[in-house]
Amino acid sequence: MARVLSGIQPSGDLHLGNYLGAIRNWVTDQDSHDAFYCVVDLHALTLDIDPEVLRSRTRDTAIDLLAAGLDPARCTLFVQSHVTEHTQMAWLLECVATMGELGRMTQFKEKSEGKDSIRVGLFTYPVLQAADIVLYDAERVPVGDDQRQHLELAREVANRFNHRFGDHLVVPEASVPPMGARVMDLQHPERKMSKSVNSPLGTVLVLDDPAEIVKKVKKAVTDNENEVRYDPETKPGLSNLLELLAVATGRTPTDVAGSYERYGDLKKDTADALVELLAPLQARRLELAGDPGEVARLLAQGAEKARKVASATYQRAARAVGLLAPE
Ligand code: TYM
Repeated sequence: MARVLSGIQPSGDLHLGNYLGAIRNWVTDQDSHDAFYCVVDLHALTLDIDPEVLRSRTRDTAIDLLAAGLDPARCTLFVQSHVTEHTQMAWLLECVATMGELGRMTQFKEKSEGKDSIRVGLFTYPVLQAADIVLYDAERVPVGDDQRQHLELAREVANRFNHRFGDHLVVPEASVPPMGARVMDLQHPERKMSKSVNSPLGTVLVLDDPAEIVKKVKKAVTDNENEVRYDPETKPGLSNLLELLAVATGRTPTDVAGSYERYGDLKKDTADALVELLAPLQARRLELAGDPGEVARLLAQGAEKARKVASATYQRAARAVGLLAPE
């Protein structure tokens, strides 16, 4: 079975974009792939985060992933910092990556804009991400649209490493779903839904209760026309709703658009479909939260499985670049 790997930052509550763009597909990939998924706590250190908050969010994110349907019997779920090879591999790749290519990363540019003091970790962030991927010989990386550029960089760096030291790393490919890859903020449909932007009404959290979901969808920004048409360029808000209802019900946005004449009806059905889509996850979340010991045990097991694969790859790469093996 082909390998997949993906990761999520524990930097905030899981939202609909994370779920539709990535996690839902991670769940499906468990049966067709040898799947590795990690909560990337080291990546979360690149922005300000309180130590206690980071610890509890790391746990909570793992619980959310289990609730979403990741099954440790069918995939390897672990916390990034529990496998020390991630930072070791990142160093090897930092010695291959260039300042120029990292400086071109849009996420770096956005997150560092206007700051007079920029952390080195924020700059080298995509190299750590490349290390996450190559350590597991992952061929496919299921992610949302916003990760395409980081995946291109990972490919570039892996290719350069292989060119210089021999064919030791698998060159990964991004796997972006045809729909749900770019869920937009309901209040600002010109920008993506995001954990790091404070837009409570525009962000549907996977743990929002039904009343909250209904409220947020009802207040979603659309346009001044009254024609239901899928056209992300000129009607971003409405098209986002059409896409959400389409993904939730397995239809296409254009097909969904054909079934509605009034914005209000579309909003009502979209909210109902999202409530229904998230209900099983929310129910499982409650069960799991009641058993923290079990979650810790599952993560320890995941880390052990991950370490076996990661340490073999790291050793291979370390020897290839000329590091002397300890006796
Ligand atoms: P993160 O934590 O920002 O997001 C996790 C996943 O959710 C997707 N996503 C979205 N998809 C659709 N619409 C949205 N509005 C939306 N917002 C987020 C992201 O594309 C992602 O797939 N750098 C990564 C984490 C990472 C990683 C990795 C990913 C670290 N190492 C190795 C893959 C492989 C990130 O910050 O994702």
